[in-house]
Amino acid sequence: MKNIDSKGHVTGKSIYVDDIPTIKGTLYGVVFDSPIAHGCIESIDYTKALDLHGVIKIITHEDIPGENQIGGIIPDEELFASTDVYFAGQPIALIIAESDQIAFEARKLVDINISEKEVIVDSREAQKKDQLIFPPRTFSLGDTESAWKKCAHVFKGQAHSNGQEHLYIETQGAYAVPLENGHIRISSSTQGPTAVQRTAAKVLNVGMHKIEVDVVRIGGGFGGKEDQATPWAIMAALGTQILNQPVKVILSRLDDMRMTGKRHPYSSDYKVGFSDDLKIMAYETTFFQNAGAAADLSPAVMERTLFHGTNSYFIPNVKMTAYSCKTNLPPNTAFRGFGGPQGMFVIESALAHAAKELSVSTHQLQKINLLKNGDKFPYGQIADGVELTKIWSEMESKFDIEAVQNRIHEFNSTNADVKKGFSLMPVTFGISFTKKPMNQARALVHIYTDGSVGVSTGAVEMGQGVNTKMIQIASQIFSLDPKRVKLESTNTTRVANTSPSAASSTADLNGKALQQACNVLLERLKNCAADHFGISSQDIDIKSGIVYSKGVATDLNWDKLVLMTFLKRICLTENGHYATPRINFDMKKEKGNPFAYHVFGLALTEVTLDCIRGTYNFDAVRIVHDFGNTMNPSVDFGQIEGGLVQGIGWMTMEEIFYNQDGQLMSNSLSTYKIPDIYSVPKEVVIEPLKTKGNEMAILKSKAVGEPPLMYGIGAYFSLENAVRAFNPNFSSTFDAPFTHEKILMGLFGAGRPESHDSNNVLWSSDRMVGATI
Ligand code: MTE
Ligand code: HPA
Ligand code: MOS
Repeated sequence: MKNIDSKGHVTGKSIYVDDIPTIKGTLYGVVFDSPIAHGCIESIDYTKALDLHGVIKIITHEDIPGENQIGGIIPDEELFASTDVYFAGQPIALIIAESDQIAFEARKLVDINISEKEVIVDSREAQKKDQLIFPPRTFSLGDTESAWKKCAHVFKGQAHSNGQEHLYIETQGAYAVPLENGHIRISSSTQGPTAVQRTAAKVLNVGMHKIEVDVVRIGGGFGGKEDQATPWAIMAALGTQILNQPVKVILSRLDDMRMTGKRHPYSSDYKVGFSDDLKIMAYETTFFQNAGAAADLSPAVMERTLFHGTNSYFIPNVKMTAYSCKTNLPPNTAFRGFGGPQGMFVIESALAHAAKELSVSTHQLQKINLLKNGDKFPYGQIADGVELTKIWSEMESKFDIEAVQNRIHEFNSTNADVKKGFSLMPVTFGISFTKKPMNQARALVHIYTDGSVGVSTGAVEMGQGVNTKMIQIASQIFSLDPKRVKLESTNTTRVANTSPSAASSTADLNGKALQQACNVLLERLKNCAADHFGISSQDIDIKSGIVYSKGVATDLNWDKLVLMTFLKRICLTENGHYATPRINFDMKKEKGNPFAYHVFGLALTEVTLDCIRGTYNFDAVRIVHDFGNTMNPSVDFGQIEGGLVQGIGWMTMEEIFYNQDGQLMSNSLSTYKIPDIYSVPKEVVIEPLKTKGNEMAILKSKAVGEPPLMYGIGAYFSLENAVRAFNPNFSSTFDAPFTHEKILMGLFGAGRPESHDSNNVLWSSDRMVGATI
């Protein structure tokens, strides 16, 4: 089934927050934010701003009736800064005016005086100064200490991956409207309607029942709207509460880039040891996560880094420690992969490092060490349903890795200034929220008396096609034309207490709740038909709108049966509930069974590098992916392509740059480059692995949202290999993104800088933050 939004999107008819027709009297809010990354607010003078014609009110922390607190996991983040500011771009006030232009003008007239404090932008520096968001955590398996002694080869190094701007097409925003009796409806561009509702209630000092949050769809989220859609929605709601008028807050692109957090940069140490036959015997790593100025989702992101620190490999002795480091950057947040990609980049760097030293190819090391059924993950879960070996052989038979290698070797030996490189990138990604209570969902289904159907779930459509999947489920169970099923907006009054649409679990959780509700309704209808025919309900089938009795078509159809059921006063509405069974995780022991299942895949990336200019093209990315039994190939293939390109962007060109004062220099689309059509690999081939699928996945169709992003990591290593083909002395910096500048330095420079300490800031992306280029 085609994505139900395709037509609306290409014709521009799809509705986003800023497209909602405004009510008369709507006011516009613009956020006044801190110009400085760390300091104490000495004075603020709003007089001139307030004097501007059309300015209605400036809301500050003093106007908040409830708590001035928006921290979700840890209460460490004010909605509006009260005394101190901790990052440039931190909201201080909301300027409300008759138009957004007036509010923008007024913002320029605010006088603020901040006494500056020391700014920390680097995670390692923060850790040294004991600036941590929460205590470090360690996952371990076996005993690395004794394992090192038995290793034939041991390698140590560092790896760094930079942040990433979400750059959803629809910027953050919300529109709040007053209802009767102090109730407020918020239309928000959020992945987490309940998070908005809960936090708004706390700040506004009202019950959650007074706040209704509605989401039709959002123009991309990628994790950036799991938690960070909340402040703007609350600001709009506060304005509405105080003024009893509708208030809209839509961030401009530049405000959005400056004020919101991004993917966490990580700087990491690794140590890896091998036996003589190249089995990984031991792996140790320390991750320094750059969390920014407040916790936001950093604890959960850091945990997922630990969960995915060994990627697709079995390692008997592991010790991974992670620090969440508090810096003066905007609080970093969820981003597709949720810390997993950062963890995987480190082990892939360690393997590439070892392969070079051992003069073997990286894919040899990868293949030898692939995870198998029955192996234990460092967090205690026993791997099952592992498809990696099968995927690897599928890659070999479909795409002939040896032939690719030979062809590239041949090309490189006959071309001086153009070189090719390739890499393999296996992915193993755990599906479930790692916080157990979040793994639940509900769905509300109405069958109307004419036989048409209305469905509400907690799922937010953000481009990933979940609404299409929900319609497929209902129409499949009822055997009804999808056109007769309507998916309602996601609304906290219809489906309450929802988890955010995240963790790639939205279709599984909400789909299973929906399945449950639909099955109950179907049973009721069948019972009614069975009564009518005087037979058992087991003998009733409903197919394509026709009721069958013992396999024979009757003259009873769906519409008539629905009406008949209604006339018998039987309920045609059902609420389904699903909670993922059998998952658990004990944070004290750091052991458990956190994931319902894993998604597996492998990408083969080929690149051609112009060694004079440092420019390149990805010739092909060939992917063998474990969809289980995909319920919607066109949606799922789209997720693979989009995720891959987003991952390539993170690894190659997207370069977040904060200066030492904590100011975002890559603050617009002229200084922050994301992949465009020219950066897309010339060929992307997706080969679905033939498997039975997994019962825990909706219709055995595995989650697909995040895993493909990590295929993009292959881009980094294919480029490295191409650089090395030109400059055999090149030694890796394992410092993503591998920008054109770094490629040129790799081609013509001495290679690896001596160390990654603070004298060498130019080369480290987390340290880039402190660079003085
Ligand atoms: N695809 C599109 N088009 N837009 C998005 O914002 N977000 C990604 C992924 N794919 C995203 C997307 C992220 S971060 C997640 S967690 C999943 O979709 C969420 O949706 P799912 O749970 O339905 O896969
Ligand atoms: N993934 C995405 N979002 C989350 C998670 C997770 O594992 N846990 C809490 N929020
Ligand atoms: Mo996705 S990072 O879990 O929103």
